[in-house]
Amino acid sequence: MTTGFTVEQLRAAATDAVRAPSLHNTQPWRFRLRDGGIELSVDPLRRLPVTDPSGWGTRIACGAALFNLRLALAVAGTPATVRLRPYPADPDVVARLVPDLPRRPTPAEQSLSAAIHRRFSNRAPFWPDPVPAEARWRLGEAARAEQCWLELVIGTGAVNALAEVARSAHRVLERDPAYAAERAEWMRAEPSPDGVPTAAGGPPSEPQDLLPQRGFGGRNRAPGRDFEPEPLVAVLGSTGNTAADQVIAGQALQRVLLTATDAGLSVSLISQPIEVPGAREALRLSLGRFGTPQMVMRIGYGQPGTATPRRPVDEVLDLPVVPA
Ligand SMILES: Cc1cc2nc3c(=O)[nH]c(=O)nc-3n(C[C@H](O)[C@H](O)[C@H](O)COP(=O)(O)O)c2cc1C
Repeated sequence: MTTGFTVEQLRAAATDAVRAPSLHNTQPWRFRLRDGGIELSVDPLRRLPVTDPSGWGTRIACGAALFNLRLALAVAGTPATVRLRPYPADPDVVARLVPDLPRRPTPAEQSLSAAIHRRFSNRAPFWPDPVPAEARWRLGEAARAEQCWLELVIGTGAVNALAEVARSAHRVLERDPAYAAERAEWMRAEPSPDGVPTAAGGPPSEPQDLLPQRGFGGRNRAPGRDFEPEPLVAVLGSTGNTAADQVIAGQALQRVLLTATDAGLSVSLISQPIEVPGAREALRLSLGRFGTPQMVMRIGYGQPGTATPRRPVDEVLDLPVVPA
């Protein structure tokens, strides 16, 4: 294919891209057509200066959106070649996608794409059923296919040690009133196209909980409905930690999340131990892996739930102005 992408292709692919997860559901992305290519940029107005001062979370979210964009284009038979951060002078442009040779999508691409609109962060307790070895292997493969690793934390001692790091990071963050205020700005008791709806927030923390829960004002849990006693906890990591590596990690995160959804699994994200530098370093040392942890996840069999809202796709497209 020598011609570029069209506005229709951009709109269709962006409709899938915006289903990606983002910190507090800020949806910090914009999409445009330029010289026949689709460009994905950070939306500077949707940064979280207190929760995400370095921009790590924004790049993870944009990486996840980029994975959906790639997948949507491939499933439509118009796959793309991707260049990350194509303009050194403009680091807000996360990626540029140009058309590659058209081909039929693979069955694996079709199943992952079908999971895009079913995936959601499930913060409620999961069933205690263990995640089978085959599904665990698939999750690891998903991370490796995107040049990252996924470490499954196995054994009570290792899970308790990670949980302790996560809880102490949570306490550090919660001591900062500006952090709590920023989160409160994105909590939504009424229907809204962004932010975290109360119904998706998960139950408030209780003293017996192993892993910390970011409070989004969810409803109290029913008596006895505690979190699963032996959660499957996984850490996603990348070999480097440059801005481009974080975009790569975001793509790997989304591939892992869609693979989990396709396997009938639920996931919640726990990023407090990534956001606090000392905790991230403790996590890195405890794993003994080469590279940098980019996300902690709790994986299991959850109750059904619904996807959270997104802004209409036209709000995130920068389309050329057609002269009247
Ligand atoms: C970088 C990043 C960090 C996140 N950290 C957390 C977290 O610590 N706790 C949590 O409950 N959700 C976390 N999330 C999930 C978002 O809150 C969630 O993706 C967003 O509200 C949209 O909802 P959805 O995932 O159901 O589509 C994180 C998401 C991203 C991309």
